[in-house]
Amino acid sequence: MTVERPLHIACIMDGNGRWAASRDLPRTAGHTAGEENLAEIVRLAVDRDVGWLTVFGFSTENWVRPRSEVRHILGLHEKLFGRIQELNELDVRIQWIGRPFDSPSARTPRYVQRAIRKAINDTAGNTGMVLTVAFDYGGRAELMSAVRAVRAAGEPVTPESIDKHLYLPELPPVDVMVRTSGEQRVSNFLLWQGAGAKIHFSDAAWPDFDADDLDRAIALAR
Ligand code: FPP
Repeated sequence: MTVERPLHIACIMDGNGRWAASRDLPRTAGHTAGEENLAEIVRLAVDRDVGWLTVFGFSTENWVRPRSEVRHILGLHEKLFGRIQELNELDVRIQWIGRPFDSPSARTPRYVQRAIRKAINDTAGNTGMVLTVAFDYGGRAELMSAVRAVRAAGEPVTPESIDKHLYLPELPPVDVMVRTSGEQRVSNFLLWQGAGAKIHFSDAAWPDFDADDLDRAIALAR
């Protein structure tokens, strides 16, 4: 009998701004719709038996966006990490990947830190899909921090020692990387974990990414 490894899908949720502009709405409305669609995609991924869903919520490069847009996206993270009842009903364990809150360059405000910690704690007992939200995340920063930790521990630099010092060592290799909105770039997302990933490019803006799209991504891996 072959036992399939739980599927790991990672999404670069692009195109919220263009989705909003095409409807004459402010960019923030696009992000709001994007967060709502993410909640729907989480439900669909659970239904499809996806084991790990990792999403790019905010990158280390996103801090340069206009302050009001950044504030809005931070608020949406508070909202997402606040969906504890929903996550518990779905048996989803939520976690976060990003620059450690106490690292010198990290900028995550305390209210977002609190929401993240509470959600991780309140869903820790769930055994179904693992939803990992990348917030203040950059793949290069993660790799540099891992290599520094390997050297500080006096270990040889090997794939195994780097694995052990990533932000979330338990995160399995990515099977399929999804990028929406017609862009075909990896954008510093999960550079190590995604090294062997297949890539599903979708023309849909993230708020329109739907079940058919998700099924196409899953089919790439199965
Ligand atoms: C890209 O859209 C998306 C982001 C900058 C971050 C993703 C954020 C969300 C989906 C909203 C909430 C998500 C979470 C996890 C709470 P863009 O603004 O770059 O779109 P554009 O390229 O069309 O301008």
